[in-house]
Amino acid sequence: MPRWGFNTKDLVALSGAHTLGKAEGVPFTDNPFTFTNSYYKVLMKRRDEAKQHMLATDRALLSCPECAAHVEAYAMDQEAFFRDFASAYRRMTLVGTGLKEKP
Ligand code: HEM
Repeated sequence: MPRWGFNTKDLVALSGAHTLGKAEGVPFTDNPFTFTNSYYKVLMKRRDEAKQHMLATDRALLSCPECAAHVEAYAMDQEAFFRDFASAYRRMTLVGTGLKEKP
């Protein structure tokens, strides 16, 4: 288990924040102002060709089989993404605070 307790699923879920915003001025997705699971759909659809801008860390999620399985699951199930993102993001905000997550 990594030092801060994040697992592979957490990594894939947190990367979904790249549904929003841009990298080097180019939006990651078609709807960069709305939080959805479109990041995973774009990632699967685009793979190598990158109309939407994807970082090396985004594309790498497809070359790791365990990560790719989560990418596919989140592309098909937005509620699962929202649930796992909320959990991982909350824990991420607690890193370094000394606070523990309530059960
Ligand atoms: C694998 C780890 C990550 C890497 C290497 C990474 C890297 C980057 C880079 C290079 C950009 C573009 C910056 C620019 O061109 O101005 C970006 C944008 C962004 N990242 Fe990440 N990121 C990572 C994880 C995350 C996480 C965990 C979150 C939040 C939970 C996040 C949220 C965002 C958002 C919202 C933007 C858009 C910012 C904007 O439009 O101004 N990223 N990220």
